[in-house]
Amino acid sequence: MCGVFGYSGEEKEDLAGYILEGLKKLEYRGYDSSGIAVFKKGKVRIIKEVGELANLRKRLKGKHLSGNLGIGHTRWATHGGVTRKNAHPHTDCLGKIAVVHNGIMENYEEIKQKLLGLGHKFKSETDTEIFPHLIEEKIKKDRNLSFSEAVRLSFNQIEGLNAVCACCSDGEIVAFRKGSPLVAGLGEKGNFVSSDIPGLSCLTRKIVILEEGEGVSVTKERVVKINSKTGKRALAKETFVDMEEKEAARGNFPYFLIKEIFEQPEVVARVAASDKKEIKKAVEMIKKSWGTYFTACGTAAHSGLAATYMFSEIAKRHVNFAFGSEFPYFNDFLVPKSLLIAASQSGETMDTLEAVRAAKKKGAKVLSLVNVPSSTLTRLSDKTILLKAGPERAVLSTKSYIAKLSFFLLFAYAIAGRLNLGIKILQETSKEMVRMLKRGLEAKMKKLAKKLSGCEHIYIIGRGVNYATALEGALKIKEASYIHAEGFPAGELKHGVIALIEPGTPCFCIIAKDRAKEAVLSNAMELKSRGGYIIGISSERQSVFDVWIQVPEVGAASPIVSIIPMQLLAYHLTLIKGYNPDRPRNLAKSVTVR
Ligand code: AGP
Ligand code: GLU
Repeated sequence: MCGVFGYSGEEKEDLAGYILEGLKKLEYRGYDSSGIAVFKKGKVRIIKEVGELANLRKRLKGKHLSGNLGIGHTRWATHGGVTRKNAHPHTDCLGKIAVVHNGIMENYEEIKQKLLGLGHKFKSETDTEIFPHLIEEKIKKDRNLSFSEAVRLSFNQIEGLNAVCACCSDGEIVAFRKGSPLVAGLGEKGNFVSSDIPGLSCLTRKIVILEEGEGVSVTKERVVKINSKTGKRALAKETFVDMEEKEAARGNFPYFLIKEIFEQPEVVARVAASDKKEIKKAVEMIKKSWGTYFTACGTAAHSGLAATYMFSEIAKRHVNFAFGSEFPYFNDFLVPKSLLIAASQSGETMDTLEAVRAAKKKGAKVLSLVNVPSSTLTRLSDKTILLKAGPERAVLSTKSYIAKLSFFLLFAYAIAGRLNLGIKILQETSKEMVRMLKRGLEAKMKKLAKKLSGCEHIYIIGRGVNYATALEGALKIKEASYIHAEGFPAGELKHGVIALIEPGTPCFCIIAKDRAKEAVLSNAMELKSRGGYIIGISSERQSVFDVWIQVPEVGAASPIVSIIPMQLLAYHLTLIKGYNPDRPRNLAKSVTVR
C-alpha cells in the first residue's frame, strides 16, 4: 500500500525515469494512482496519473526530465477519490514545496480549516495537501526557520500514523515516520528514501532504519537523522542488508501468483530444514508464557486460526487468536508474562503492528513470524522467525501462508516434544505437493474454473483446522476473481447459512482424514440434499462428491495441501474473467493504514 521513493544526488539526465524505476519496485505494494516531482535549478515539475505506473510512463514519454532531486509516490486512496488531482505529490500555494505521504492525517480537517482561514488555496480532496501548506505557513512566519525544522514542526502537528516526505529546491529531502514504514539508503552518487528495503534493492545495500518518530534529512552528500521531538540531528548509521533479488523475477511464469503457488513445495521443504535450535528457542518462549495469543491479518490471520487448532490437538495447549485490528480491544488480560505471536508476510501491516505495540505497552513478550527481513515487525519483536518463503510479489498471499502453517505445525510438534516427527511430516508433505502439482492439478482446476466462472456465489466448508482453510480458500477466490465466496465451519450451516443453497450452488467441502471427517461428510450430504454441487477436496473419493479434487494424505499437514486447489482455482477464475491476478482492484500488498 502506497509507495514513497526519493533521490537526492548527482544530476541525472532522465531523473523522472529513474524515480519511476524506484516506484516500480514498490508497485507490488498496491496502488491506484501515481506521481513524481523532479527538481532542477530551483524549478519543480510534477507529473501525475491515475491507474498503473505504465500510464504515468506514457505521460512522461519524450519529456526527459533531468534533475538532481526527485520524489515519487504510488497512492492507495484513503481521503479523496482516485483522480489525477488527488494523486501525490502535493504542493504549497507557491508550488515550491512538494510532499508525498503514506497514512492518514487524522486531524486534517481542523488544520485545513485554519489554513483556509489564513488564505491557503487547496487543489485536492486529500488529507495530505495540508502538509505542504503547513510547511509554507511556518516558513512564512519565521524566515530564519530551516526547511527541515519547518517539516519537523509540521509533522509534530499532525495526528495518526504517517510517513511524510517533503522537498524543496535546495536539494534536501526531509522525511519523518510514525507508524507507517520508511527507510533511507546511502548510494554512491546520491542518497535515497523508500517505503521499504526491497524498494532499494539494486540501488544500495546500505540501509538507514528509521525508528518510530524519527526523521531524516537526505542530501547528495549525507543522510542525517532527526529526532522529531527534540530536533536533535546526528549522522545516520547504516545497516548492511542482503537482499534476495534473484527470486523476485517471474521466470517463465506469466504471473507472480502462479509462480508463487508452484514454489510452495520448496517453501515447505525449506521450513522443514530450519535450524532446530531456533525452533526450540521460540518454543521455549511459548512454554514459559502464562498465556499465548496469536494475532495477524487477512491470510496471515487464517494461518493463526489454523495454529490454534494445531496447538490444541498436537501440543495440547490453549491459545487465543484475534485479528490485528481487533486485538487492541481485546488485550486487557495481557500481563508481562503473556506472549503475543504475530504473523505477517510484509512485517509492515499496520493493524498487526498496532496489536504488537499494544501488547508491548502491557509488558508482554512478542514472537513474530515474518517474511521480509528487517521489516518493522522484526524490530518490534523480542524474537523473530524468518519465514524464508522468498519475495512474495503477488498481492494474493500464497507461499507465505504455507510457510506460516508449516512453522506453526513445527512449533506444535516441538511443544509436544516431537519436533522430529513434525519435520518428517513436512518433508513428506513437500514431496507430495510436488507430485500433486505434477499430476495435472492445475489443468483440473482450470477446467473447473471454466465451469464456475459464471456463478455468483461459492461456498466452502471445513471443520477443525480446515475451517481456516475454508476461510482462506474463500478469500483467495474473492480477492482476485471478485466472485462472492464464503468459508464456513461446516457445522454452522444448519444454523442459517444453508438457506442460501440453491440447486447448482457450488459447495467446496474440505474433508481430511481426521476426527472431523464423518461430521463434514454429513454436512456435505445436507448441502447435496438441497441441490448443492459438491466439490470435494479430499485424499479419498466419496459418493457425495460431484467432483473430486484429490489431495495427498499428509495427516496433520492437511491444511497445507488442501488450500492449493483453491489457490489455483482463484488464479484461473481471474484469468477467465480477464483480470490481472497479480493486481486485484482496491487491494494493496502491505496494508499500512489502520
Ligand atoms: C491475502 O492474500 C492478502 N491480500 C492480505 O489478506 C494479507 O494477507 C494481509 O493484508 C496481511 O498481510 P501481511 O501478511 O503482510 O501482514
Ligand atoms: N491519505 C493519503 C491520500 O488519500 C495517502 C494515502 C496513501 O497512503 O497512499 O492521499
